[in-house]
Amino acid sequence: MSDSNAFRRCLGKFATGVTVVTCLDAAGRPCGITANSFSSVSLDPPLILWNIAKVSNSLEAYKQAEYFAINVLSADSQSVANHFARSDHTLFANVEHVMSERGSPLLPDTLAQFECRTNAIHDCGDHFIIIGEVVEFRSTDRDPLLFFAGQYRKLEKPE
Ligand SMILES: Cc1cc2nc3c(=O)[nH]c(=O)nc-3n(C[C@H](O)[C@H](O)[C@H](O)COP(=O)(O)O)c2cc1C
Repeated sequence: MSDSNAFRRCLGKFATGVTVVTCLDAAGRPCGITANSFSSVSLDPPLILWNIAKVSNSLEAYKQAEYFAINVLSADSQSVANHFARSDHTLFANVEHVMSERGSPLLPDTLAQFECRTNAIHDCGDHFIIIGEVVEFRSTDRDPLLFFAGQYRKLEKPE
């Protein structure tokens, strides 16, 4: 690959939603990282995936976590996305959240949540692919926060 910036720009042409993936680190501190690599994998069994950069400061937290949660952000949560795109992923002091029974931090006002048990972690280039088995899920009718070409977007209502 001769031009990694061009590759990144080309990948950015695939519009996605935005999630915050949360877990507890080994010391029991809540962690959250903004991720748009979330994808469905399998209906039966119910599996999803997301990718974490090997350079991420919170890599070890997600590698050791038995459970994690995918919080799918709603249109008005851009500040939450920016917050968890910062390097210190344990910054929960000013972020409202509840702890799930299995110990995953859940954010309020999301449009969907998937609570997952870590099923497999695959070493893949400069990222790890984390596969989760969905053990609980819930959704609302909120509008999504979107990410396209390096920018946050909102859904345009159909005519
Ligand atoms: C919209 C958006 C999507 C992102 N998606 C991912 C992702 O899927 N995986 C990942 O490892 N980092 C992703 N990041 C970057 C992380 O959120 C994180 O902030 C960044 O890696 C810096 O933290 P670190 O220094 O701990 O790695 C994304 C950032 C943004 C703004």
